[in-house]
Amino acid sequence: MKRSTLVKSSLPASIAAAFTWFALSGSALAADPGKPSADKVARGKYLVTTSGCNDCHTPWTMGANGPEPDYSRMLSGHPEKMELPPAPKPVGPWIVSAAATNTAWSGPWGVSFTANLTPDPETGLGKWTLRNFVDTIRTGRHMGRGRPILPPMPIPMYKNFTDEDLEAIYSYLRTIPPVKNAVPEPLPPAIAPTASKQ
Ligand code: HEC
Repeated sequence: MKRSTLVKSSLPASIAAAFTWFALSGSALAADPGKPSADKVARGKYLVTTSGCNDCHTPWTMGANGPEPDYSRMLSGHPEKMELPPAPKPVGPWIVSAAATNTAWSGPWGVSFTANLTPDPETGLGKWTLRNFVDTIRTGRHMGRGRPILPPMPIPMYKNFTDEDLEAIYSYLRTIPPVKNAVPEPLPPAIAPTASKQ
């Protein structure tokens, strides 16, 4: 008896506490975090440049020492004007092929094109809130509720970033030069042999 009275009487307080926590944490993420500190942007830059984002989201070009990311189009995703023939048919254990830009990938999931991560409002992440970004990485779905994000985007690894790290990455991405580049939608897996066969 005594125990249940205790539970009952403490319940409203804990519910109130839970709501306060939810409201605080919810609003902290949902809203645009405003102007981030220089430290946060620097941390985001560090994470982006050590976690491989440029490997796939910046088109590669042939440099003096071989292929390298073209930083004049930094993080702008698969170039919209690039025309691609059908991907070669997979042979044996070689099941994935990548375009020379490292921005288009063909595999058992179909063909995926890396997204424009620059702050361009129409073709990049310009209109994304921090919440949109965090939900995408955490759930592996576009904005947390759309279609699944396809390979080779390393969602299984990146979903382990802390909220703090994701906020830093998001903050840095908002500071890079916007590039207008509308990345195509992914193509479904081929159901018939491609033109290259017979
Ligand atoms: C190995 C290649 C690869 C790496 C490394 C990579 N990405 Fe991706 N990313 C992709 C591909 C491919 C897509 C598009 C997948 C699709 O269309 O479903 C994508 C999609 C995304 C999306 C979803 C965009 C949308 O509209 O839903 C975000 C956000 C993103 N990447 C951010 C990042 C960040 C930040 C990093 C570095 C921390 C990163 N990516 C590193 C390949 C990569």
